[in-house]
Amino acid sequence: MAYRRDSNAGSTEEVGTLLTAAQIIERVRELGAAITRDYEGRSLVMVCVLKGSFVFAADLARAISLPLRIEFLGVRSYGQGTTSSGVVQITHDLEQPIEGEDVLLVEDIVDTGLTVAHLLELLRTRLPRSIKVCSLLHKPARSCTPVPIDYLGFTIEDRFVVGYGLDRAEVYRNLPYIGVLD
Ligand code: IMP
Ligand code: MG
Repeated sequence: MAYRRDSNAGSTEEVGTLLTAAQIIERVRELGAAITRDYEGRSLVMVCVLKGSFVFAADLARAISLPLRIEFLGVRSYGQGTTSSGVVQITHDLEQPIEGEDVLLVEDIVDTGLTVAHLLELLRTRLPRSIKVCSLLHKPARSCTPVPIDYLGFTIEDRFVVGYGLDRAEVYRNLPYIGVLD
């Protein structure tokens, strides 16, 4: 499966497939089943990190059979380019308290780990009962800080990926699969 789109510069760019939509949905179902088992008898607050994890969170929420609510945390860690600035800016905060709640932080990708490390630190100050991390993707090659990933979809190589919520300069989020731009 290939996807071509006109870039801003007017040239065409080929997006190769790294993970197909079918591979992703199968893995999301497995993650949802594991989370459902682990939290049996409890309820969950999913914290969806915007914007990248909105597609993953939407599918994951429907794969979890527990009472849950969804909160959104807007974060900006990348500019227009493809390298981490290391700076995490909160652009939208949670609407409801998470004190005493079981929280699942849902990320699209853990790259350097700086974003998740920062968000865990922030969320812990709000005294949740527990907090775990679920990430669709992990790029261990670029890790700068060790972060726990309790539920992981796929480990990938150090390539810049787009689609299924992930962007490059805000484009490609609507690709139904994970593609690579090389
Ligand atoms: P970290 O702080 O370096 O772990 O970066 C986390 C954030 O960077 C993710 O939530 C993504 O928004 C973005 N990011 C990292 N790698 C990629 C990539 O390959 N494609 C698109 N976005 C990425
Ligand atoms: Mg992003």
